[in-house]
Amino acid sequence: MKDKIGALLEEVEKYTAGTAQQAEEFRLKFLSRKGQINDLFEEFKTVAPELKREIGQMLNKLRNSAEEKFKSLQEAGGAEKQNDSGKVDLTLPVNHFTGARHPLASVRKEILAIFSRLGFTVADGPEIEDDWHNFSALNFPEEHPARDMQDTFFIDHEIALRTHTSSVQVRVLEHTQPPVRIVMPGRVYRNEAISARAHCFFHQVEGLYVDKGVSFADMKQALLYFSREMFGSKTEIRLRPSYFPFTEPSAEMDISCTICGGKGCNVCKYSGWVEIMGCGMVDPSVLENCKIDSKTYSGFAFGMGIERITMLKYEVKDLRLFSENDVRFLAQFKSTI
Ligand code: PHE
Repeated sequence: MKDKIGALLEEVEKYTAGTAQQAEEFRLKFLSRKGQINDLFEEFKTVAPELKREIGQMLNKLRNSAEEKFKSLQEAGGAEKQNDSGKVDLTLPVNHFTGARHPLASVRKEILAIFSRLGFTVADGPEIEDDWHNFSALNFPEEHPARDMQDTFFIDHEIALRTHTSSVQVRVLEHTQPPVRIVMPGRVYRNEAISARAHCFFHQVEGLYVDKGVSFADMKQALLYFSREMFGSKTEIRLRPSYFPFTEPSAEMDISCTICGGKGCNVCKYSGWVEIMGCGMVDPSVLENCKIDSKTYSGFAFGMGIERITMLKYEVKDLRLFSENDVRFLAQFKSTI
């Protein structure tokens, strides 16, 4: 038996192969279940006890060197495959990485889908905006702090990157007579230091409904419907009085905390509520600025940050993750629409 092992060891060491197929032949001959080394291990069972130690060591050595040899033969075969350019190797495994929709894109899609069930259609406007559409028509007084360089990226005196999607309300109302029922998604810019909770750009979805007899109750019902579709049927909403130059009355809307269900946790800062949007009845002067008769028509408007909704829905703790393109983060959203 010792001779046999010695002869095989020599054969293994001398073996050369240049192709993947030859490497495979080597494996079949020596290392497979029906290969010669396995046969020797079978035979080993009958070896006299006093020889077991010595022969066992030889056998292990043989197997190790055959395995090593196979590895190096495989590498040589693999290299050959790469050199074989132009030919497609159909035996290579399929690449299973399918990619995923960006979480902000899928949440935007979901928001638009919910409002489309209430009859809202989609509109958009430019990201580079003039003072009239971003501020003046929306009733921002000349001295309003949002007009400050510290909050807004100005391109020149009259032109800036829009600070909110409310500018699209004006663009649409200027050339459409009511009824108007639209949602307006888009990117907005603010001159803020980048942190886990703020960025110099983010995304909003604006909503606007103007018609005869639109009431605050209509707004409340539409926003309750949205919140329950988005965050689950047990979600409650709460409207707190607030101020925006372009709505009167104005409110901030909270939803019952999606994490603790309202009991109190660190996401809702132990209040049970989290703010998700601003809203209110369109200020009559905004309608008049757009040549719409404010005695005949009324409307409501709302605006929410897509990042904020996404962070709540998927428990994302750092806003910066959305714009870093880290595949480890993005790949976790494969199952979303
Ligand atoms: N434009 C406001 C903001 O960016 C949100 C808002 C939109 C408030 C519509 C009321 C009505 O904060």
